[in-house]
Amino acid sequence: MKLGFIGCGVISTAHLEGLQQLKNEGKKMFDLTAVCDLRQDRAEAFAVEVEKRLGKRPEVYTDYRRMLEEGRLDAVSVLLDHDLHHTVAEDCFAAGVHVQMQKPLAISPSFGRKMLADAKKYGKVMTISEPSVLGADNVAMARAVREGIIGSVYLIMDYATVTLGRKYFAGTAWRHMKGRAGAGWINDHGVHRTHFFTEVNGPIKEVFSYKEIFEKELSDGETIIRPSGEDTSVTVFRFENGGLGHWMCSTAAHGERTGGVWIYGSKGCFRPGKHAALEDGSIIPMSEIIERFAPDTVQNPFAHSYVELWEAITDHKEPISSGERGLEALCVVFAALESATIGQPINVQDIINGKMHAYEDSVIEEMKSFKK
Ligand SMILES: NC(=O)c1ccc[n+]([C@@H]2O[C@H](COP(=O)([O-])OP(=O)(O)OC[C@H]3O[C@@H](n4cnc5c(N)ncnc54)[C@H](O)[C@@H]3O)[C@@H](O)[C@H]2O)c1
Repeated sequence: MKLGFIGCGVISTAHLEGLQQLKNEGKKMFDLTAVCDLRQDRAEAFAVEVEKRLGKRPEVYTDYRRMLEEGRLDAVSVLLDHDLHHTVAEDCFAAGVHVQMQKPLAISPSFGRKMLADAKKYGKVMTISEPSVLGADNVAMARAVREGIIGSVYLIMDYATVTLGRKYFAGTAWRHMKGRAGAGWINDHGVHRTHFFTEVNGPIKEVFSYKEIFEKELSDGETIIRPSGEDTSVTVFRFENGGLGHWMCSTAAHGERTGGVWIYGSKGCFRPGKHAALEDGSIIPMSEIIERFAPDTVQNPFAHSYVELWEAITDHKEPISSGERGLEALCVVFAALESATIGQPINVQDIINGKMHAYEDSVIEEMKSFKK
């Protein structure tokens, strides 16, 4: 099947590496025949890299609608700023093309709901490239926890703080504006985590959060912005099955960063990417957990995302990282943002069904102001 990329920025290389791994392992894979970026220099440079790694130079476009018209594509991966996800997805579906969307599914829940409805209306597949639940490590971990390797989950703790030195995350200013990115790092990074939390321990019922914008100005030395997306959030939540969670993210940490996830259950602790430590003192390394729970899953999460897309198109197989699961993850983030906005705990279902939307309204207002 023929594949196109829309957007050749920061994350596109990781996707190319994923395709390269499938090629190297002799697995069925898409033919990357077209790439598009508004910036021709980026698209051209990326096409050269594609040829180096996959052996064939894709066509280069600067207008994705032209690419959809001329490219005879089966599927595209959309690698764009969050405010563009819903319109580009609809254009792809209308052109008869299946979509792999980057996380977060959409800039905010109402657009996410629209994307799911559009995929259905046009009868097209939409998967999410969500590396936190794909690849052998993550699939094995989720299965192991769900099958009770650490007993029933009592508590998930997730601490992620980075220092930007008041510069732009990944060199991109748009990530700090809620009218372009949906929120600050709590959406851009946080949605990875909420997707992972719900994958290992089921739906989250209720969320309470504080959020803040500590750094009032950011700059890359050439431009200065006043961010409207939060740089810090501290959240607690409760799963439907009674487990608790404590989740923190910040891009305003100075001097030292921290990062780590602990999943505590009635029989032990799981350290994602590392091991399971059981109450009898035994340590089960990830290699053994993969062997037991996901021996046939490809290692690289981005490679896995293309296996999922392929199988969803050809075999109608339900992807692990589906649009619906992407919406759920996005709605947990927006439940935290809503809670911090109105100062009350929020039921995630009220975000999923659109009943609560004070924070989302502020995102849409800023989106409109950018369009003027
Ligand atoms: N680990 C991950 O899964 C991961 C990591 C980083 C980014 N992402 C996601 O990938 C997406 C892209 O992020 P990024 O970091 O690559 O952003 P980026 O800003 O580096 O790249 C976006 C690219 O899209 C191009 N572009 C913008 N509008 C366009 C249009 N209308 N037509 C064609 N090209 C256009 C830009 O010129 C830019 O090159 C986001 O959804 C982001 O959250 C995922």
